[in-house]
Amino acid sequence: MLPLRVGIAGLGTVGGAVLRRLTGDAAAIAARTGRPVQVTGVAARDRAKAAPLLGEANWFDDALDLARSPDIDVFVELIGGHEGVARSAVAAAISAGKSVVTANKALLAHHGLELAAAAEAQGVALAFEAAVAGGIPVIKVLREALSGNTIDRVCGILNGTCNYILTRMEAEGLGFAECLAEAQRLGYAEADPSFDIDGFDTAHKLAILASLAFGSAPDLDAIHVEGIRSITSDDLRAADDLGYRVKLLGVAQRTDHGIETRVHPTMVAKTTALAAVHGVTNAVAVNADAVRELTLVGPGAGGDATASAVLGDIADLARGSTVLPFGRPAALLEHAPRAPMQRH
Ligand code: HSE
Repeated sequence: MLPLRVGIAGLGTVGGAVLRRLTGDAAAIAARTGRPVQVTGVAARDRAKAAPLLGEANWFDDALDLARSPDIDVFVELIGGHEGVARSAVAAAISAGKSVVTANKALLAHHGLELAAAAEAQGVALAFEAAVAGGIPVIKVLREALSGNTIDRVCGILNGTCNYILTRMEAEGLGFAECLAEAQRLGYAEADPSFDIDGFDTAHKLAILASLAFGSAPDLDAIHVEGIRSITSDDLRAADDLGYRVKLLGVAQRTDHGIETRVHPTMVAKTTALAAVHGVTNAVAVNADAVRELTLVGPGAGGDATASAVLGDIADLARGSTVLPFGRPAALLEHAPRAPMQRH
């Protein structure tokens, strides 16, 4: 069988892990999917750093050229950012009839619906399991496994960096800046860590989850966002004395006046499942009519965990999956909010 030919743009923490696993585990992945997967092109900032990982793959100085290359079937976007190269390369890949796999939550929260509609029109996939909660397969659960449910609420710890900082501050009594520096060293934080600590990364992920859970367009502007920058060790100690832990939660729920979406530090009773989620671990709790309550817990950031989700999407494409990203994006687009989403 002809291999699925993959082009990878971006070789940071996640891109490097994806490339290493795709080349190192090629035989096992082919056995699991029934089709070989071959990396035929790579684009990244630093060619010298990428060289040892390249193997048979061709080098591209420009991600746009890779996106349009006739030698790839799937474009894997791991560049990041919701404008610039990431956006134009994903759009170019879709226009050229390539399926896209991305971990880019900011891109999806800002432009997901337009990109999904373009993918729908082209008959290609736009897959983004890695965009929310790292290694937890929550996109698949909401979009596919829970299709027989009406979902009332999705709530979770969606940022590994913030949960790592809060856990280290609480357990070790360390200062905020020191914990953030650790999270950066471990490869959990965004290139600009203010996206993590000011809550915007959680908001991007929540916009995607809410869209899938409630069948609506992603609406970043509707989300109330508050981060953890001003949380002190004294706050954590006071919460502890009262029987609580402080967690940065993203919450999306049906109310009598529509879907309410918010991100903010929350006092969570120590007796609850979310309070026991430590370090870089994420958790997503779903309330729905048939399953009632379901909680998914797992690694929320880091190279290998996020690569696991990217590889799952690539494997789906190798198996021939044609699942559409946000239900019927063209139909949703007609009802999308008209205000430009520019706040974050
Ligand atoms: N900076 C993100 C986090 C990476 O800490 O959760 C995963 O999206």
